[in-house]
Amino acid sequence: MRQFAELAGDVRDPYPMFAGIRESTPVMEIQYGARSDPKAPRVTSLFSVTSHELAEQVLTDTARFSSAGYASSIGQVLGRSIIGMDGPEHVRQRALVAGAFRARVLDRWSDEIIGATVGELIDAFAGDGHADLVPQLTYPFPIRVIARVLGLPEADWPRFLRLSTELIAVMRNWDRAVAASRELRGYFGEIIADRRRHARDDLVSQLIEAEVDGHRLKDEEIYPFLLLLLPAGAETTYRSSGNLLFGLLGDPAQLDAVRADRGLVPAAIEEALRWETPALTVARTATADLELGGVRIPAGALVAVSLGAANRDPLLHPHPDTFDVFRADKQHMSFGDGAHTCLGMHLARLEMRILLTAVLDRLPGLRLDPGADDPHIHGLLFRSPPNLPVRFDPE
Ligand code: HEM
Repeated sequence: MRQFAELAGDVRDPYPMFAGIRESTPVMEIQYGARSDPKAPRVTSLFSVTSHELAEQVLTDTARFSSAGYASSIGQVLGRSIIGMDGPEHVRQRALVAGAFRARVLDRWSDEIIGATVGELIDAFAGDGHADLVPQLTYPFPIRVIARVLGLPEADWPRFLRLSTELIAVMRNWDRAVAASRELRGYFGEIIADRRRHARDDLVSQLIEAEVDGHRLKDEEIYPFLLLLLPAGAETTYRSSGNLLFGLLGDPAQLDAVRADRGLVPAAIEEALRWETPALTVARTATADLELGGVRIPAGALVAVSLGAANRDPLLHPHPDTFDVFRADKQHMSFGDGAHTCLGMHLARLEMRILLTAVLDRLPGLRLDPGADDPHIHGLLFRSPPNLPVRFDPE
């Protein structure tokens, strides 16, 4: 057994550590001591899965690997949401919310909401010739999209954005996240009550009206889903957008190629998702004593599937550490796999496409600021650049 913190080394680059684990054993037992807030739940028995093949096995085998473990971690601030459900309950709840993310709905959001949001954020700095693209663009972007998709009045945005940020930072400040969750629940309660009286053209109204086999969502089921959208939909997408821009800015030849041929935008998005996985790990709990990759795992143990490690498995991808928009096979597990595969993946891809296209169109001559203080990607649970200082030709 090894200490996780010791194994983690420099969180700027956990990939050598993952490669080392994968080479020594595809499933490693780890003593997990990393907790920045002592109130966050302590996990004692943890197995890390780093190969693509075994990651796929775990995520597609819901009988042996349950999602119920989320109840004692993120479930404490979200309530009972679909991410922590198993079996028929999960299938039924997922079917009820999935309609709101179908292609026809997304098309309608693309200009009205996503394009408008990117446009107004870029308007604020396009004349300056310089910007930090994280605080000024990638960070506020997806949470504003969610605020608009939910139909929240603009006057409420500052409060909503503050509470969302506090909820998302759950592993750093548990008490504040619990308080934010309580306040958001009260706020969403008012919105749901209002939409029950007057349906509107927004996601909350769609969730209220959704019906599958005579079932409808109760308020107690809508709250956790709305709360889940904050970490699931906003945190991940802001990070993936930052990683995409970082990958391209770090290799001006690839940036020029994508600028010249917009047909490469989807390839750049998929490669960025593979290369720097925004949410590195998903968790499952062993439902019985079992064996995985020749390693015995006791019932109740936490199985941490490293999507980041799986995405860089050399058995699948040659030169896995290189960001290469032109690689032939860019398949990745950044949206998970199996029954819980990300429900918002089409929305996330659409957001990244609209964001990158707007950046290429509106910020000519875009480059990393040569005076920038060491831009980099970091993180062990979530990964993205904390800052992206750039220069460009002002509008
Ligand atoms: C690049 C951005 C995104 C990434 C990398 C990502 C990643 C993931 C992953 C890995 C899972 C599976 C979790 C598990 O198996 O335990 C997941 C589930 C989920 N995601 Fe995303 N996600 C992204 C964007 C979004 C967006 C934009 C939304 C909605 C607004 C969203 C909503 C969800 C929901 C509701 C689930 C739970 C599905 C279920 O449990 O059946 N995600 N996401």
